[in-house]
Amino acid sequence: MMMSRSYIAGTGSYLPERRVTNEELAQSIDTSDEWIVSRTGINERRIAADGELTSDLAYKAAIRALEHAKTSADEIDLIVLATTTPDRTFPSTATRVQSMLNMKGGAAFDVQAVCSGFIYALSVADNFIRAGQAETVLVIGAETFSRILDWEDRTTCVLFGDGAGAVVLKKNKEFSHDDDPGKTRGILTTHLHSDGDHADLLYVDGGPSSTQTTGHVRMIGREVFRHAVINLAAVVDEALEANGYTRADIDWLVPHQANKRILDSTARKLDMPPERVVITVDRHANTSAASIPLALDEAVKDGRIKDDNLVLLEAMGGGLTWGAALVRW
Ligand code: ACO
Repeated sequence: MMMSRSYIAGTGSYLPERRVTNEELAQSIDTSDEWIVSRTGINERRIAADGELTSDLAYKAAIRALEHAKTSADEIDLIVLATTTPDRTFPSTATRVQSMLNMKGGAAFDVQAVCSGFIYALSVADNFIRAGQAETVLVIGAETFSRILDWEDRTTCVLFGDGAGAVVLKKNKEFSHDDDPGKTRGILTTHLHSDGDHADLLYVDGGPSSTQTTGHVRMIGREVFRHAVINLAAVVDEALEANGYTRADIDWLVPHQANKRILDSTARKLDMPPERVVITVDRHANTSAASIPLALDEAVKDGRIKDDNLVLLEAMGGGLTWGAALVRW
């Protein structure tokens, strides 16, 4: 049987210029660098400038990914943009980016799965390509999470940052299923889950239909932590099993960067040596849907992720939502 899959042809990312350190936060709320570092591993985060929107960050990341993939905007037939902090309730931020890129054709839409958003968007894009409905897809994770934080709530505001990352997905050549498909470059499988019964663990207390306000992030941190470690280890094993691989086969784990203790606990549960886990949470904090493509871009551009590596992406976020993607680079 002949088959095809999508592959990541290029990556790009963008961070706002303004760095906010833990010390700076400690000047306005009752916290300390020591507390934040020891509980989360976060040293600093980037915060978008006044008037700098999610679409601005997304556009800059997209331009870099297109350059890396040596692809022009008019070759794109779909944009899938993951965000929880859209410029406006509608139209989608994806259509705004489409216009900024001067794309005259194709389609563009947003996906909303909070911190799992990039895995969801990647899965949607991969399935469009597999189904033959698209050949070149721009997948973006972009957030201005700072805009939905309660800056007086020390239990949440210290954890998040702003940023964007993007990948260009392309359809690769057809190959025979019998030719060891797990060795052919591309997204091997994606795995998505959600459990709406846990919506109250992590949510925003506003929205157009409920309060007609934007609202702020609310979270029961300990419970989120507990679910994260269990769900992430399970979905990683599910992805490996689906492809006949074991944990030892993973060259790089690129997790959603929620906090260092979740990353360490998940890595321990998976017997992954820390040097094979890509970590950016110390400098970016939790950028929600942007964190995986930001981390991926860093590890690709600094040469850690190389051709033929087996790369596992995983995330968990509000919803609850969680998922993974196994990629042969
Ligand atoms: N500075 C100082 N003290 C603080 C701060 C702060 N920023 N935040 C909370 N505290 C205090 C609390 O008030 C509490 O004080 P008390 O004992 O006097 O009541 C104490 O620290 C302990 O609070 P806990 O919430 O129990 O602290 P915990 O050890 O659970 O750490 C944390 C909190 C870091 C949020 C942790 O629960 C966690 O990492 N949870 C995961 C949540 C997460 O990462 N969410 C991101 C979105 S979901 C995702 O991306 C997977």
